[in-house]
Amino acid sequence: SDVEILHSRILTWYAANARHLPWRIPASEWPWPGVDRPWAVLVSEVMLQQTPVARVEPVWHRWMDLWPTPAALAAAAPGDAVREWGRLGYPRRALRLHAAATAITRDHRGAIPADLLQLQALPGIGSYTAAAVGAFAFGIRSAVVDVNVRRAEARLVTGAQHPAPSLTAAETRLANELLPRDNADAATWNVAVMELGALVCKASTPACGECPVQAQCAWVLAGRPAHD
Ligand code: ADE
Repeated sequence: SDVEILHSRILTWYAANARHLPWRIPASEWPWPGVDRPWAVLVSEVMLQQTPVARVEPVWHRWMDLWPTPAALAAAAPGDAVREWGRLGYPRRALRLHAAATAITRDHRGAIPADLLQLQALPGIGSYTAAAVGAFAFGIRSAVVDVNVRRAEARLVTGAQHPAPSLTAAETRLANELLPRDNADAATWNVAVMELGALVCKASTPACGECPVQAQCAWVLAGRPAHD
């Protein structure tokens, strides 16, 4: 089917082109036994929300050295979290992570809950972060829909150059329809579409010549119309 072709082309592209980022290392190969991997994923997702990968990476490593578990951060002063946030911007995110670490330590015996509703109930954790931690840390089959995913899926399926200004119900429905049935494929699919949007299906200068699904892309088929 058309969707199966999208799945196989994008998953194959990801296997060959993914950046090797530390928070993407699977549990079976996790190189830091003292570092709680779901916690590492949660911290990465909050840092990546408003900051590019290159600036996040060194700060993420420093945080994992200092605070390898939620309990370790909960035991620190909130001001230490803000100081170690460095220049990532929007430093309230550091306080939100401290509050989440405190709630995880107090209400979940220090273990990040492997459940979307319990994740979303943590302070400072919204539906995006809950879905990302559920998918990337626990393999829960849930659509992770950031702006890169929304842009790639809009172009591919609806032929729009850009996604809506903020997440719409139609975009959420589309992301869920495109999610592979198989749990393991779904987790990889989420990060693969995100990576395609970040590296190829870029906002201002898309590299359609490098795209594994240009032949299936509604926006390319329409002649890449520019809507101002
Ligand atoms: N890998 C997993 N989540 C990511 C994100 N939000 N941005 C970039 N790479 C990621």
